[in-house]
Amino acid sequence: MKPHCFSCPICAIDLASDEIAYRCHGCGATFPFIGPKVPMLLAEHDKATVTAYLALAKLVKKDEEIISSIQAAIAIDSPRSAVLKRAVAGSESALALLKEIMSILRHRLNLDTLISHRPEIDPDKARPYLNPLSYALRDWGGLDESEEEISRVMKVMERYSAFSPRRGSVTVLGAGLGRYGCEFLGCYDTVYAIERSLPMALLFGMLRLRDIELDSVNLVNCKNIVDAVRHLTLSRRRTKNKPRIDGQEVAYAVGDAKQLPIATGSQSALASIFFTDVVPISRLVMEAGRVLEPGGLFIHFGPLNYHTEVSVSERLSAEEVRDLFKGSKFTILAEDWHPGFHLERIDGLAKMWYNNWSFVARYEGRPEQSWTRQPIDNLCIIGCFKFESTFKLIGRTKTIVRAKIITSNDRIIEINGCTAEIVLDLMADKPFSIAISKANEKYGHDIRLIQSVYRDIEHLTATGILGNKRS
Ligand SMILES: C[S@@+](CC[C@H](N)C(=O)[O-])C[C@H]1O[C@@H](n2cnc3c(N)ncnc32)[C@H](O)[C@@H]1O
Ligand SMILES: [Zn+2]
Repeated sequence: MKPHCFSCPICAIDLASDEIAYRCHGCGATFPFIGPKVPMLLAEHDKATVTAYLALAKLVKKDEEIISSIQAAIAIDSPRSAVLKRAVAGSESALALLKEIMSILRHRLNLDTLISHRPEIDPDKARPYLNPLSYALRDWGGLDESEEEISRVMKVMERYSAFSPRRGSVTVLGAGLGRYGCEFLGCYDTVYAIERSLPMALLFGMLRLRDIELDSVNLVNCKNIVDAVRHLTLSRRRTKNKPRIDGQEVAYAVGDAKQLPIATGSQSALASIFFTDVVPISRLVMEAGRVLEPGGLFIHFGPLNYHTEVSVSERLSAEEVRDLFKGSKFTILAEDWHPGFHLERIDGLAKMWYNNWSFVARYEGRPEQSWTRQPIDNLCIIGCFKFESTFKLIGRTKTIVRAKIITSNDRIIEINGCTAEIVLDLMADKPFSIAISKANEKYGHDIRLIQSVYRDIEHLTATGILGNKRS
């Protein structure tokens, strides 16, 4: 197996790991493992743990209420008692699994963390993404309809992957329960899977260690009584592809696709399956350009059914997505349409129809872009914007981990913590050269070599926030 190497989501330098955590020698950040040794390569992993815990607590409460209402129906001697009793038992098995994930999260939390980290997003809104069970059934439940969906998507991935002879590393974005990552094991030397949701990641970690028995309960849209509760064994053995190299395993980590823990210029391909519409696409394209090697492929499959966190200015049509990629040093090599179902029971009476779009785009950017080669000098603030940031204390030093620039037309540009410190100095009217040398001193190396900072500055220049001082 080709060894994998994660990089720092804050400063993009390669991380070193020991038994307890991944550590960055650039910015000093530490990224601990959680539960079954899943690395949390997020700038704000404590906050993500709190959000996931609170969201799961709500989900568990809701499920308990549902179970109580079914039990109440059984108590009044419903003619459907037999099926309802099976539904209660099935729902309890799902509940036990969610509680097991919650207890892993709780293990990492103390009162201080809970109080000091307000959830990132409203746990109510987060719920659909944080409930890992719907994907668990499709990915590892072995149902015919699920296997059909996965093989349909993988055929497209394989066809598009053939547009490049390079089969070094692939990263699966928003990797969910990891099934697509595992399918790629046969096709690339190294497979990374990056997923933002801790419960998804924990369930994937648990499935590495054991099979999980789970009932799928459906009390609506059933043809037959037996369809109401289906017993399934979730098992990692479902993947048909044999790894090319014995013992090859997916390098799965909790991470954010907008700040990937993946080295600059290192990936032969990125797979964005049911994911391109989940995060702001302009940010995704920039990050794709950062991590792809020259000639690397961005492969998309899915609808453009933008999720609530994506602002209206980022909800592009397929035509605009094409233009965005073309304007960001990509060439679209092929595209197609794939009508079909997603995460559906074949026997259900109602289903959601998807008109999925796929495309493959090749990155034509240069292998290395950094300020040492392409100096950006004498920048200052020339546009109007609002600035928001979050920081944490690393030792005694206050380090910005993430920041947002909100432009005058309400566009949100997320920037790296290191870039944020430069912007703050520019806001305080410090010359650009001073801002850079201060950051160099703080981070202990030449920050002009950090690709994500370079890209942020490029982005802020392109959007008219930063510009060259007129003499
Ligand atoms: C629609 S699901 C698709 C899952 C998977 N790609 C599949 O098709 O099975 C989107 C996934 O992206 C994850 N996600 C959301 N925001 C993310 C981000 N910023 N970075 C990485 N993953 C994210 C969600 O938790 C969820 O697992
Ligand atoms: Zn770092």
